[in-house]
Amino acid sequence: MRKTIPDFEKMKQVGEKISMLTAYDYPSAQFVEEAGVDMILVGDSLGMVVLGYDSTVQVTMEEMLHHTKAVRRGAPQTFVVTDMPFLSYATVDLAIMNAGRLVKEGGADAVKLEGGAEIVPIVQILTRAGIPVVGHIGLTPQTANQLGGFKVQGRDLDSAKQLLKDGQALEQAGAFLLVLEAIPRQVAGQISTGLKIPTIGIGAGLDCDGQVLVFHDILGLFKRFKPKFVKQYAELRSDCVQAIQEYHKEVKSGLFPSEEYTFGLSDEVIQKLYGDKQYS
Ligand code: KIV
Repeated sequence: MRKTIPDFEKMKQVGEKISMLTAYDYPSAQFVEEAGVDMILVGDSLGMVVLGYDSTVQVTMEEMLHHTKAVRRGAPQTFVVTDMPFLSYATVDLAIMNAGRLVKEGGADAVKLEGGAEIVPIVQILTRAGIPVVGHIGLTPQTANQLGGFKVQGRDLDSAKQLLKDGQALEQAGAFLLVLEAIPRQVAGQISTGLKIPTIGIGAGLDCDGQVLVFHDILGLFKRFKPKFVKQYAELRSDCVQAIQEYHKEVKSGLFPSEEYTFGLSDEVIQKLYGDKQYS
């Protein structure tokens, strides 16, 4: 059964960790649902791991919508959060229109926005309109350039204090969940204990209320880079290349398709078609 926001609140209260994994299409969503993961994130990381862009900045609303629909079809029983792409929530009007589309057309249960106290008015408007919001602070890839690149955040006193304030501000604005990315464990732990809403860490240590990682990273399907916080549970990329090489060789050598993969005709039809001429 699809979990609900009160289920996630309860999980935090009783200390049950929340598992979240990204998925971007019908088969990956099916795998994640079959594995029993609590929540799916249709992350804008799809721009990099599925669409081959250099960053998440190029991802469009139409792409997020397209992938959300596929994920919803693949995982009808799993709570789905979809990332709002860069600039799709730059104003209140844009945010309402685009978040509404992800929920109404895409079938998302909630939307995720990157940013701290500065996006409070947007979070308030969306939650008042009935759209559940997930916050995302720490390393925020859509604005990584402003942060000086893909770096751990909250390492000095001022930035750690700012993250604590951002977490509080987002909770007060109505966010029901908070993603903490690339933050020292101690800071993430303090944010988590100080909030009523659950936190989901990615590179934020064990003291968060749950964890999220990228599908392609844990399965070894993405080879461009691997952040320190990624634990790889399989090496499927080399399995895929090996299987495709075998197929390629068998086509070239005529080993595929063998009889097993071939349709035939009855002798009677062959006789009528070709008469005495031999079919070769
Ligand atoms: O886009 C994404 O996959 C994310 C996770 C890394 C949290 O935002």
